[in-house]
Amino acid sequence: MLPYFPFGQRFNEKMGTALLSESERLIEVDEHYRSEIALKRQLLAELPEYYYQDLPGYEIAQWDVVDSVLHNLALFAPDQFTLQQDGNRWYWRNHLLNETIAFTFGDVTTLPHAPLDWIGRQIQEDLLLLTGHDATLVAGQLCFANDWSLDEKIGLPFWQIHAPITPIVEPMMRAAQKLLERLPVGRSVWRANWSLKISNQLDMTARHTPMLKQLLTDRLPTLTSETIGDQLFVRVERQTLTRLPRSQAILFGIHTYQNRLANEAADPERAKLMAQTLSTTPRAMLEYKGMTGYLPALLTYLTRK
Ligand code: HEM
Repeated sequence: MLPYFPFGQRFNEKMGTALLSESERLIEVDEHYRSEIALKRQLLAELPEYYYQDLPGYEIAQWDVVDSVLHNLALFAPDQFTLQQDGNRWYWRNHLLNETIAFTFGDVTTLPHAPLDWIGRQIQEDLLLLTGHDATLVAGQLCFANDWSLDEKIGLPFWQIHAPITPIVEPMMRAAQKLLERLPVGRSVWRANWSLKISNQLDMTARHTPMLKQLLTDRLPTLTSETIGDQLFVRVERQTLTRLPRSQAILFGIHTYQNRLANEAADPERAKLMAQTLSTTPRAMLEYKGMTGYLPALLTYLTRK
């Protein structure tokens, strides 16, 4: 079952953010850790400039991410990760991968990759760095994006990243922008986002969009209320937003979870919540999420469940 299930009694036009409490992790490690890290590293080896990008001048923010992520992992999962510090000399042990590294904090020459690129290879999350009043995307390691890529968004401010913004979500996006402007250090927030997909391939970066669209078109005639549960996947992103202490940049982390629709809908309460949310989701949003072609079959399926 998905650890997060952002469906409710009706479509929620609020941004759905909540404070991340001290007992909640910034970075999550689940049973797919090893396979997802292997996939990430493979993608980064094949197309490094597609999956990782940084604009010059934000090295301090990158080190901020290393600091926050390593401390969070070592604090919440001391059996899996250990961090020792001797002044600026840091010793990192990843017991899950059986890897050890010693580096000098602040000295890029002591890491095998740029700091953000290195730390991203230790965790399942995609990582994005945003800076300034308008929250401009200045760096990112993005392997498991849902329908977008760094090529399209690097250098753009928050508002333009989301353009064109449909009128129904405009108040939400204004609230989100205010939240980013005012987010204090030490008070991370999180939210969950949902979509339904024809595939459970984790890397849905924009280069795969034409293939995935074609796959949906080809399968559409076979998506009936009898078969749809086995053919679709629920994809949920746990998104966190953290103001970083040295640079004042914002770290946007995305952990993607997915499960076959039939597995989620086997729980009648979950089936009911999905039906309630989907039947009240505005048309423009359903179109944006590519769901209009199979919505009637999906609602019939969920209602039966
Ligand atoms: C509280 C903060 C945020 C809120 C409320 C928010 C909300 C949304 C919504 C409503 C959508 C479109 C519909 C959907 O998939 O549900 C979306 C898509 C997207 N968001 Fe956000 N978002 C937030 C933060 C961010 C940040 C910090 C980034 C930085 C990279 C980002 C990048 C994107 C991208 C790239 C898309 C896809 C846009 C496209 O279709 O080209 N979001 N977001």
